[in-house]
Amino acid sequence: MANKTLKGEIFYPSDEVLASARVRDWEKIRSEAEHDLQGFWAKEAAELHWFAPWEKVLDDSKKPFYQWFTGGKTNIAYNCLDRHIKTAHRNKLALMWEGEKGEFQSFSYYALWRETCKFANVLRSLGVQKGDRVTLYMGRIPELVIGMLACARIGAVHSVVYGGFTVEALHERLEDSQSKVLIVADGAYQRGKTVPLKSIADDALQRAATVESVLVVKRTGEPVPMEPGRDMWLHELMNLPIANNQSSVEIVDAEDPLFLLYTSGTTGRPKAILHTHGGYMVGTYSTFKYVFDIQEEDRYWCAADPGWITGHSYIVYGPLLNGATSFMYEGAPTFPFPNRWWQMIERYGINILYTAPTAIRGLMRFGEAWPNRHDLSSLRLLGSVGEPINPEAWKWYHRVIGKGRCPIMDTWWQTETGMFMVTPAPAVPLKPGSGTRPFPGVEMDILNEDGKPVAANEEGYLVIKTPWPAMMRTIYNDPDRYVSQYWSKFPGYYLTGDSARRDEDGYYWIIGRVDDVIKVSGYRLGTAEIESALVSHPAVAEAAAIGLPHEIKGNAIHTYVILKAGIEKTEKLLEELRAHVSHEMGPIAKPEQITFVDSLPKTRSGKIMRRVLKARALGQEPKDIMTLED
Ligand code: PRX
Repeated sequence: MANKTLKGEIFYPSDEVLASARVRDWEKIRSEAEHDLQGFWAKEAAELHWFAPWEKVLDDSKKPFYQWFTGGKTNIAYNCLDRHIKTAHRNKLALMWEGEKGEFQSFSYYALWRETCKFANVLRSLGVQKGDRVTLYMGRIPELVIGMLACARIGAVHSVVYGGFTVEALHERLEDSQSKVLIVADGAYQRGKTVPLKSIADDALQRAATVESVLVVKRTGEPVPMEPGRDMWLHELMNLPIANNQSSVEIVDAEDPLFLLYTSGTTGRPKAILHTHGGYMVGTYSTFKYVFDIQEEDRYWCAADPGWITGHSYIVYGPLLNGATSFMYEGAPTFPFPNRWWQMIERYGINILYTAPTAIRGLMRFGEAWPNRHDLSSLRLLGSVGEPINPEAWKWYHRVIGKGRCPIMDTWWQTETGMFMVTPAPAVPLKPGSGTRPFPGVEMDILNEDGKPVAANEEGYLVIKTPWPAMMRTIYNDPDRYVSQYWSKFPGYYLTGDSARRDEDGYYWIIGRVDDVIKVSGYRLGTAEIESALVSHPAVAEAAAIGLPHEIKGNAIHTYVILKAGIEKTEKLLEELRAHVSHEMGPIAKPEQITFVDSLPKTRSGKIMRRVLKARALGQEPKDIMTLED
């Protein structure tokens, strides 16, 4: 193969991997898709069910508001469930789940379909209609998956809020989405303790006027206050006669909204990324099929949280569209011992593990003895997502977990892209730390400040040149921001917000965010959100947040705070401020360090120059500070 001439440290697929790979000649598919983009996606789409065929594969008449499969009628939940219960998949396991305390639950495709139908009827009985927004706020429990599918089934738009967020984050999302219903668990288990989700939600609900009904899922069983007329136990409604299998599917347009997912951007408040039924369905179906090369007998585990895009696309939709068996685990990787994950891989015979570099680094710290106690021979493929994986972690994952046999699919993508964009497939030669090249049909480039492609190995802005079916359609309620944030810096190109370089073999190496997004343990947080959480404390006048390298988390949050006049800089206040951010936003946003300062570097127009703070903290000379005010 021509591949033999690749430069650097290469891991070639073994004969065994090549023999079982669905696609051995990945380059061939890539060039087919390049020559006929629409033909490629039409072929993928045709493997799914459409109640009425599409008229156009791609409609770019209103770009950058691209539309896919216009005129087509479908429903993603129908494709995830109803389609399979008409086949031998009816009795196949769709979802296996282990709770942190060790309980186990499983659902065949039939059972997941039935529970979804019942849940859909419960939602309808609360008056939820096509297009209404429903917020879900829970830990990693099956009801979250079923709730999402139930919304999709009736054409409602789900908005999942990560269970690790707290009051202010939830409130903002409820209000922006104008949700009619909130589905919340009484609590969640986290490292043997419980997180009181319902009481956090009660605080958030005090200011969220549109929520009419609250469905409460019993998880921990701890007592929670129930507001009469508003709050109802889900299990009670699921036992009523209306909660039955007779639940019609809402036939929707390909371009009808499926979900909102809030994520942090360059400035200001989190924005609701909007995805639709048709294109998102085709994109997640196809990428999951090719990249994880899913086989009938596989047991697949994505260790992400359904509250983030990885969970939406590759716990819920991608696997179910493919009729795969998916495993989900509720708790922390190291609870009660650092072998928890390896024990579950052995117990359930997991074949594919998809996780984040931060988790790998965290588990690496405990040493090889923990995984080595377990039989991990069922593993066939590994995956990585969320941040760049350092070659050291890549090699540990490959050698210790994959025993040198399992290729690692390092997938680069975003909430906005909905699906894998830069990714290998099993037959592709790998370089540790690189996601290899774009998925078929996806054309990308790396540009300099003037919009010119950079030379090999030079760093620049990562952009996407071709539309793809699972692309976000807009920012909900803010189409102007969609255009200005993603399509304006280099007109015609989608701006990812990442910097990257491409080597002489065309392999992409992601460097990191070039905007004010901080990736902490793979979670995406905005400096603006952290800063506003700090400023909401009565002692704080001004605040700035930056990310600094951290061995396990990738980046850690460091903040600089100017106190209001007359307030004393004490250790106690530092702790209080850290706890305040954690309370407002969630423990993931808790600053690693807070430093009291008397001033912050600003531009003449008053913008905080986080770049300067970062360079100083790293002991570097800040570049280009001409516009610095002081
Ligand atoms: O910076 C990139 C990083 O995560 C960002 C997207 O974050 P989010 O929307 O939360 O989605 C995360 C899961 C898809 C990207 O802009 N990122 C994601 N995957 C990788 C990555 N960086 C390097 N390598 C990856 N494989």
